Amino acid sequence: MSLSVLITGSAGFIGFHTVKALLARGDMVIGLDNFNSYYDATLKERRNEVLEKYENFTCIRGDIKDTAKLQEAFSLLIKPSPCPLPKGRGAMETRVCHLAAQAGVRHSIEHPDEFIQDNIVGFHNVIDAARKNDIDGFVYASTSAVYGDNAKTLFSEEDKTDDQASLYGMTKKANELEARVYHKRYGMYVTGLRFFTVYGTWGRPDMALFLFTDWILKNQPLQIFGKGKMRRDWTCVDDIVSGIISALDKNYACEIFNLGGGHTEELMDFVTMIEKCCGKEGEKNFLSMQPGDVVQTSADISKARKMLEYEPKTRIQEGIPKFVEWYRKYYGL
Ligand SMILES: NC(=O)c1ccc[n+]([C@@H]2O[C@H](COP(=O)([O-])OP(=O)(O)OC[C@H]3O[C@@H](n4cnc5c(N)ncnc54)[C@H](O)[C@@H]3O)[C@@H](O)[C@H]2O)c1
Repeated sequence: MSLSVLITGSAGFIGFHTVKALLARGDMVIGLDNFNSYYDATLKERRNEVLEKYENFTCIRGDIKDTAKLQEAFSLLIKPSPCPLPKGRGAMETRVCHLAAQAGVRHSIEHPDEFIQDNIVGFHNVIDAARKNDIDGFVYASTSAVYGDNAKTLFSEEDKTDDQASLYGMTKKANELEARVYHKRYGMYVTGLRFFTVYGTWGRPDMALFLFTDWILKNQPLQIFGKGKMRRDWTCVDDIVSGIISALDKNYACEIFNLGGGHTEELMDFVTMIEKCCGKEGEKNFLSMQPGDVVQTSADISKARKMLEYEPKTRIQEGIPKFVEWYRKYYGL
């Protein structure tokens, strides 16, 4: 079976890698992205140039807040033949993989309106268009930030998620609730994926690995929040992509999965590894925790292991050198 997939946020970090993997296995992909300037839009253009080389890819430039543009993208999806097959059993099935969002816990403190517009209104537009277009399955990005200030150290999908520490986390929790209602009321197949701190090649310039590498190679002091004591379940983008693709293939009726790396590392060990790969130590400014950040994220991935056959393979010892190598090549350093 092959898929016809609409991916929102296709020029983004995770979107790019997901589209590339789907194209490589022969699925038809429609990408939708507004190439916004939250970070260097040239990086988004460069990712998109790579994708445009594939014949089975079409990129639509547009905003998920623009319902007419969204419909234009949906109308390009290849629908299964009109023969009377039961839902979810078409020769070519349709999926939506909704990744477009305003990301960044810290950014949400200064720009709450952008998060409501892109993550709540935008999400609603996409899931509602999926309903109206009778799409076979809807997979969307959630985040470990939905766990908020949960005092537990290992987050499980069963845990309470009603006390987010940031507006970003709150918007993603709202998405999970809306998806559940769309399943109950309209019978839509919906899967939410809670990503835990994703890193990798072509990564986001506002995230730790990119920033630290940049500062070290440019001899600028490192700004280390939480005095370096924060712990993160860093997840390599290649592993995230395998989880996303499995969710698209399995197309469960209504589920939520944690997708983490399966190991939690202290921020300073992460920094030391980057320094080793860059071949030099950086000067460090230790700062207190930023509002909205949490001390530790750690994913219980047993549900994804069982139901998605998800098995993260890349530890930071392998993933960080791969990133630094990409970074040096991309920026010609
Ligand atoms: N990277 C992580 O560590 C992480 C962790 C948890 C959850 N997530 C979630 O995963 C998804 C992808 O994240 P990413 O790291 O690839 O971020 P990204 O910013 O690189 O990608 C998002 C893409 O969506 C596009 N976009 C944003 N608003 C849009 C709009 N209104 N209309 C059309 N396009 C729009 C952006 O231009 C961008 O290319 C997001 O939903 C994010 O919240 C990411």
